[in-house]
Amino acid sequence: MADHIAVGVDVGGSGIKSAAVDVDQGVLVTTRLRVPTPQPSTPDRVVPAIIRIVRRSLKESGVDPKLVPIGVTMPSVVLAGVTKTAANIDPAWIDFDLGARLGAALPGPVVVLNDADAAGLAEMRFGAGVGEGGVVITLTLGTGVGSGLFNDGVLVPNTELGHMEIRGRDAERRSAAAARVRRGLSWKAWSADLDEHLHAIDKLFWPNLLILGGGISKNGDKFIPRLTVRPRVVPATLRNDAGIVGAAMAAAESFVEGGPTR
Ligand code: BGC
Repeated sequence: MADHIAVGVDVGGSGIKSAAVDVDQGVLVTTRLRVPTPQPSTPDRVVPAIIRIVRRSLKESGVDPKLVPIGVTMPSVVLAGVTKTAANIDPAWIDFDLGARLGAALPGPVVVLNDADAAGLAEMRFGAGVGEGGVVITLTLGTGVGSGLFNDGVLVPNTELGHMEIRGRDAERRSAAAARVRRGLSWKAWSADLDEHLHAIDKLFWPNLLILGGGISKNGDKFIPRLTVRPRVVPATLRNDAGIVGAAMAAAESFVEGGPTR
């Protein structure tokens, strides 16, 4: 049994990405597949697309599909497989039991988790968080702001720091990568908004380290040097594949021989 292989699927607002992952090494072992997220992105449209892409990754892995755990990320709070919020996705996802739907349709065990939690797990194990103890916060700056809170490498799930209230509104409305583009801001102006969000996070959590991910992390030199927040701030290093790798890690760690261990 290839007990170190799991499939990771990263469901985003514009694309669904999938691959089989060697979870011991944190590397993709099959092609990184991507299909556009169906629009409207309701569960009825998205679930079949997830099932199709998982089947393709399973087939390509060549491993007995019944033995491959499957991890799926959603840009939502996820409790016991149920998506509870829908900040940047169709409201039909609120209280949708994605775990049950996928579990009934796919051969292997399925785990559903928040997208930023998955990216954070991967970043802590294989990226910028390796060897970092104490409190570390990973932030994914994209359409929204996702967060992963870790203490000595252990995740506290569903922290949703993008939705802290700053100046009377959700912080992510100003600090997300999309907010810079939407509002036509310079890097300098946007980094001041991000800085304000990071100061608010620091005031509550006092992390040792902040790891900033999402596509924008490749431009870290344009905004990280401008930040004035107390903790160290570094760019994420895994980039695009962090969600896939983290989803696969979560699935592999939750199941041994097809049964949940916790
Ligand atoms: C959602 C989070 C998600 C983040 C990044 C936020 O709007 O509330 O659940 O992790 O966007 O996709």
